Amino acid sequence: MLTTKDVAGRIMVALDFASVDAAEKLIAELKGIPCYMKVGMQLFYTAGPSFVAKLKEQGYHVFLDLKMHDIPNTVKGGAESITCLGVDMFNVHAAGGRAMMEGALEGVDKALTGINGAKSPIVIGVTQLTSTSAEVLNQEIGIAGSVEDCVIRYAELTKAAGLHGVVASPLEVTAIKAACGESFISVTPGIRPAGAAMGDQSRVMTPAEAFAQGTDYVVIGRPITAAPSPREAIESIIDSVLVKA
Ligand code: C5P
Repeated sequence: MLTTKDVAGRIMVALDFASVDAAEKLIAELKGIPCYMKVGMQLFYTAGPSFVAKLKEQGYHVFLDLKMHDIPNTVKGGAESITCLGVDMFNVHAAGGRAMMEGALEGVDKALTGINGAKSPIVIGVTQLTSTSAEVLNQEIGIAGSVEDCVIRYAELTKAAGLHGVVASPLEVTAIKAACGESFISVTPGIRPAGAAMGDQSRVMTPAEAFAQGTDYVVIGRPITAAPSPREAIESIIDSVLVKA
């Protein structure tokens, strides 16, 4: 039997804000809801490590979504620095290849040897962005085949590199779990409650549908952050999941 706390802990709120003030306003509105906080590049590049430290002091789980993609040695260094921030999860692009992803894990290990009792962050590979359609994949990026085939190939590569899971669309969760096993974590953006605007996302599902597919975490930004009442928006999302559970 799922509780409100179980569901909230699996909702990652995307703090896509231009300033610390705007992010803190939202955090204050959601006070008491034990959701996961996702800090992406817009906020991190302006707010920096001290903002992440503040979230950790407030007891939140933090996903640092910087989607690293560089040569293995540089990603190793980035992962070492990120691990020292004490985040619970971070990610790299699977398209960077196996050695790059292994570099991320080496960076984690290097950081952890210097911190007594520190917990290893969950390291996730980004497969294809949820804004990528088949047309973009084939005609712009130049990868032939379906989005799902590409996502599964990247998920298998991510698993082979030793990472803990992937970011993908909820539409691909069943196939990812079948290919990589139930314990391989799936983090799914591209979530739109019934009737919400698509924005720039193209492969979407409702929160309840995504959990029914077996996703471990849903990432939700604008349907919460741009709602007239973010608190009501997340509460109604939690209710919609509990009703279907
Ligand atoms: O506002 P919205 O719900 O579309 O936000 C989705 C969030 O998930 C954004 O922060 C975006 O950067 C992130 N994301 C994504 N697709 C991925 C990986 C992360 O949309 N493949």
